[in-house]
Amino acid sequence: MAAKMFGWKAMAVVPVHLYGHPADMHAIMSSARQHGLRVIEDCAQAHGASFGNKKVGTFGDLAAFSFYPTKNLGALGDGGAIATNDPALAAQVRVLREYGWKERYVSAVPGVNSRLDEMQAAILRARLPHLDDDNERRRVIAAQYDALLADSGLTLPQPASIGTHVYHQYVIRANRRDGLRAALKEQGVGTLIHYPVPVHEQPAYAGRLPDAGPLTHTEQAAREVLSLPMYPQLSDADVRAVAAALNCCAANADKTSAEAHGLQSVGVGRQRADSR
Ligand SMILES: Cc1ncc(COP(=O)(O)O)c(C=O)c1O
Repeated sequence: MAAKMFGWKAMAVVPVHLYGHPADMHAIMSSARQHGLRVIEDCAQAHGASFGNKKVGTFGDLAAFSFYPTKNLGALGDGGAIATNDPALAAQVRVLREYGWKERYVSAVPGVNSRLDEMQAAILRARLPHLDDDNERRRVIAAQYDALLADSGLTLPQPASIGTHVYHQYVIRANRRDGLRAALKEQGVGTLIHYPVPVHEQPAYAGRLPDAGPLTHTEQAAREVLSLPMYPQLSDADVRAVAAALNCCAANADKTSAEAHGLQSVGVGRQRADSR
């Protein structure tokens, strides 16, 4: 395991249910248990996703959810939650989220202020009953993209049949990604890159993993991935317009001028331009 290679004493592994696709929790849990590691699931992009017939966030020791506004379950400001079935861990997390207090005004351990404020909680409570319908709409949009882009020559998402994907992002891969992105922008189609800089190349963390690279698959993914507009309010007409622009731009990937493609600006995807 990586921990052994770098000579650390690892405490936990953090599987990320990236883009809303469930990670293989059977494999991860059995490997982690074999090595005496805790498991912290990153469910920030996967509210409502399942592995097998169990929701993600119910496998590990702890699960972290983000309620950043663009998430599948989003508040109007920042927010998040930690889920666990372990009462001792729950007690520890409660202490950490409020200054390390076990009793008021007395910090027993170093902590932070990470309370979920009541307004965000009320908004999330109102939105929670719509989560499954919103996720279903995301899957319908994904199926439309799958069908409309089947002959585009682009690499489309290939979900494993291990559970239920909630398509926080619909991420394609393209060799000439940056040219394609620029051409789409000219046509009013907003896209994002999740994520352009891998962790081992982040200036803040590169020094911690001096011998980590090259991670060729990771680095190639960072060069090729492109997230298309994806949110439940996207209309069928918007999806068709995005797909038409993409089919056209992919066929002319070395040209970047929208005029060259003879298409009108379609103007979708901008409202999620701050998606994380
Ligand atoms: C996969 C993943 N993990 C962690 C985070 C961090 O969540 P937050 O910004 O709420 O701290 C995000 C979102 O920003 C995310 O997408």
